[in-house]
Amino acid sequence: MAKTLEFPRGFLWGAATSAHQVEGNNKNNNWWEFEQEGKTKELSGIAVDHYNRYEEDFDLAKKLNHNVHRFSVEWSRIEPSEGNFDPGAIEHYKSVIQALKKRGMKVMATLFHFTLPIWFTRKGSFEKRENAEYFLRFVDYIAQELGEEIDFWITMNEPNIYAGNGYYSGYFPPGKIKKAVTYLKVLDNLAYVHRETYFQIHRHFKDAQVGYSHNYSYISALNENSVLDKFASLLANYFLNKKFINKVKDYLDFFGLQYYVHTRINFKIGGNYLFFADEYGVEKHVDTKYPRNDIGWDIYPEGIYHVLKDLSKLDAPIIITENGIADREDKFRKEFIQETLINVYKAIQDGVNVRGYIHWSLMDNVEWHLGRGPGFGLVKIDYDKNLKRIIRPSSKFFAKICRSNELEVE
Ligand code: BGC
Repeated sequence: MAKTLEFPRGFLWGAATSAHQVEGNNKNNNWWEFEQEGKTKELSGIAVDHYNRYEEDFDLAKKLNHNVHRFSVEWSRIEPSEGNFDPGAIEHYKSVIQALKKRGMKVMATLFHFTLPIWFTRKGSFEKRENAEYFLRFVDYIAQELGEEIDFWITMNEPNIYAGNGYYSGYFPPGKIKKAVTYLKVLDNLAYVHRETYFQIHRHFKDAQVGYSHNYSYISALNENSVLDKFASLLANYFLNKKFINKVKDYLDFFGLQYYVHTRINFKIGGNYLFFADEYGVEKHVDTKYPRNDIGWDIYPEGIYHVLKDLSKLDAPIIITENGIADREDKFRKEFIQETLINVYKAIQDGVNVRGYIHWSLMDNVEWHLGRGPGFGLVKIDYDKNLKRIIRPSSKFFAKICRSNELEVE
């Protein structure tokens, strides 16, 4: 018999992007430089030209019934050289925000989504705690110029991934490999940066909604009957998730959850349970009832239920600020969204305070070091046809849920 799962009133439904992945020509940041050095699969170039086509893209989001949109403001555009704020860049983001408001969408702005101005990286970026002052000056400027119109603030995106990929695996700039001490220091500094940013925004706006986005994979033992696997998985969960969260949990108006994969831990002497970027002892991708996605990740939507339960002790409400699947052919996305939302609903029924679901991503984009290959978009980009936007069938399924605030299941 068909059942209707009704989501809480005022639930947020939408999609996310990040500046460097979609805008194009972000020439003053660390990723652009990293690309020119040949450290990525391809150059971002004009990306998907969202910088010029945002009106068209927001028309699509509106058509798909989204009531919120998450994007990032690009610090390196706004402050291309130290202390010089570009009025043209800030005007651009004012227009972006107006375009969302005009379409009746709530605005969620990320202040740091993996990219940093080159001048800031020359100073040692977040490796040095005292550099926080430069970021906070930028935050102050954003608060003054754009703050009135921002409904939700994300101070930073996935500090654990930024630090792990930047200082352990080397996939992200600065491309450092196995720098464990720096990795830990950067994470600690980022927790400090989050707290200070939280205060900074609240000094401007007492009632602001400020959170950050955490990449929280569902970590469990590869062999549920092995005490050692279980022990190692608790350790990994502590180091990758809990440690950072404990440092910021009292400074959150909401917690931004980003769930993608199930990570299974297989205890090995000398295994890496701290960083994950080097995957020794970690089986990220084992066979499940689903095939893998475009980039080889397994598909495990039920993991979000466990993660939400794990987070239920937080005082702050949870907004899912990213969840998605690399699936160019759109073979699995509909079922993935459906199964994910069934599990989100189940967690809500268990009392977990979830306030929204934001899909990654509104459209295909540049997947960092992997280039344009993986298709994460609700909207497909046809790279051979002048970056034509094509609505994928699964996004129509999602649009229906966004409109009705309910999910019909068999
Ligand atoms: C990031 C996005 C990225 C997505 C898919 C998240 O880690 O915030 O920028 O594209 O996952 O890998």
